[in-house]
Amino acid sequence: MEIKKERPTVLVVFGATGDLFKKKLAKAIFDLYAAGNLPRPFRIVGFSRKPLSHDDFRANIREILTADKSFDALRADIIDSFTRLAYYQKGDITDLGTYAKLGETLEKMDREANVCMNKLFYLAVSPLHYKTIFENLSKSGLTIPCAPTVPEHSMAWYRVLVEKPFGSDETEAMNLDKLLGRFFKEEQIYRIDHYLAKETIQNILTFRFSNTLFESLWNKENISRVEIKILESTNVSARGSFYDSIGALKDMGQSHILSMLALITMENPGALSPDAIRKARAKVVPFIKPYDKRPDKYVVRGQYEGYVAESAVNPVSQTETYFKIKVKVANKRWRSVPFYLESGKALGEAKSEIIIYFKEPKTCICPPSIGNHTHENILTFRIQPNEGITVLFWAKNSGFDFGLDAKQLSFLYNGKEGFETRKFPDAYERVLYDCIRGDQTLFSSTDEVMAQWKFITPVVRDLSSVPLVIYKQGENPEVRGAFSEYDSEYQNVN
Ligand code: BG6
Repeated sequence: MEIKKERPTVLVVFGATGDLFKKKLAKAIFDLYAAGNLPRPFRIVGFSRKPLSHDDFRANIREILTADKSFDALRADIIDSFTRLAYYQKGDITDLGTYAKLGETLEKMDREANVCMNKLFYLAVSPLHYKTIFENLSKSGLTIPCAPTVPEHSMAWYRVLVEKPFGSDETEAMNLDKLLGRFFKEEQIYRIDHYLAKETIQNILTFRFSNTLFESLWNKENISRVEIKILESTNVSARGSFYDSIGALKDMGQSHILSMLALITMENPGALSPDAIRKARAKVVPFIKPYDKRPDKYVVRGQYEGYVAESAVNPVSQTETYFKIKVKVANKRWRSVPFYLESGKALGEAKSEIIIYFKEPKTCICPPSIGNHTHENILTFRIQPNEGITVLFWAKNSGFDFGLDAKQLSFLYNGKEGFETRKFPDAYERVLYDCIRGDQTLFSSTDEVMAQWKFITPVVRDLSSVPLVIYKQGENPEVRGAFSEYDSEYQNVN
């Protein structure tokens, strides 16, 4: 359905004074509003422990928006009307009384709109609080959109948006899922993995299944290895307490990186429907296995120097801020192809990409001076920065001598080399937009999340058995080179 035709909607944000609201959500909601991509009327209710008035909350939102480097001053005129959509509810998630107050606020909004508004609950809080919130929402009757006396009460929907990590191991994720299942149907649950909503990641399916050029080569016969990496130059900053309890592998590996791996390795879903795509993604995850039985042969971990001095981090913490693992996808299409999965914080570069290395031709018509590996084709999905897709190929250099030069075909979203110049929605804009429209394609299903945990839980144990390498902030840990038996020419041409 077109979003503008959607029923009046209230978005309740648990954790509205937290990091996620500040870094991503406020701007995403504003951008949707500015582009006319929200239902009308639309309301935001911020729920948090801090004692704020509605006006304080509105002032916070204004400050977040205008402090953003990319803020377009031309849109300053609509900030007032936007912040007027926002209300604040001070509350303690463990106290049933505050849920009753929240209920009153929502009822008042329904009465003002004179219809039952859709209710969207966004849990932008630590996953440790999910259980309490689900239970209290249910106990206080907030899991039904409106009382039967409210006009059109049966036409409104009720949805929950939950952030990853969903649980902290296989058992906990399963228990949480059972609990959620008691209160909500699968079509009401939106498990966010915002990487799935990034533009280049969405493009993987189109690229693979709309171009025979590559899909016919998409297998172990033609691909020698794949790298999937999310490298960050920032450190844990204010998220020490949360991060220290989970570490890099659960923060980035269990969700974002495994979802990217699923998109690269899944079979053709056969249809462009949320159900078909989610099923195809979930189906490949159980085939993901460590490349070797011995932990030291498939996993390395590191921690940046100074991490233990970060606020709210255990001073003797062994939590990893960097990992690299070598895995395989043990099915007919992929068996034997190594996949290198890597992520870390406080590194020397900030870059997320998926690199597919194609096998070298068996007989190369190339000069002997070239040596090995200089003629592999490389396909790169660049997620950030400079979103785009590039293909590296080899061409004869011009002139009398016969030599090979690396060349690139590229498509960049920012329009410098490709055709696309349109601004595209940020991942969180997309997450909210799709949730309001009721499209679950870019959200993880329960099967996918469970399969991810089933793979990650033993890997977390293996990870803790290998030495923790300390690396300097802003530098790449020496373990980055682990398991790479390839000396790729790619490094030289990029
Ligand atoms: C989040 C992780 O899911 O993704 C963070 O919890 C990480 O630790 C962030 O920094 C990265 O997202 P993005 O969109 O900024 O690359």
